[in-house]
Amino acid sequence: MTDRELVERAFGMLQYSYVPYSGFPVGAALECEDGTVFTGCNVENAAYGSTICAERTALVKAVSEGHRDDLVRLAVVGNSRDYCWPCGACRQMLYEFAPGLVLLVARGDHAFVRLTLDQLLPHGFGPKDLEQEG
Ligand code: THU
Repeated sequence: MTDRELVERAFGMLQYSYVPYSGFPVGAALECEDGTVFTGCNVENAAYGSTICAERTALVKAVSEGHRDDLVRLAVVGNSRDYCWPCGACRQMLYEFAPGLVLLVARGDHAFVRLTLDQLLPHGFGPKDLEQEG
């Protein structure tokens, strides 16, 4: 699958976003090594803090289906003027499983940039840090 195709899979998820509070739909598409794609959208809640982002929706779908060490590429898209950058919580959740994950971050005109998660979360805290002592 090309980068463009993965980005468009993510755009296809905007229709399912549940965003009565922010009016800001976000879509995601997470690809695994074997080509499996897990999609996601943001799902908001009247208790605002219970909202889940599109990227984390896709991530928990993948992990709960046994995909953990084979995550390779993630597209994140919004209808926004600027690129739809993953929030801090999503960066941290993704870092747990795939610090080198390739990210395709798009804006409303479908333009996208390609970079890696460790570029967005340098010196991130992850499982490796809990292995060290002293
Ligand atoms: N949102 C995401 O889905 N992903 C992000 O990384 C940034 C924020 C959602 C959460 C909320 O539903 C809306 O965008 C506005 O914050």
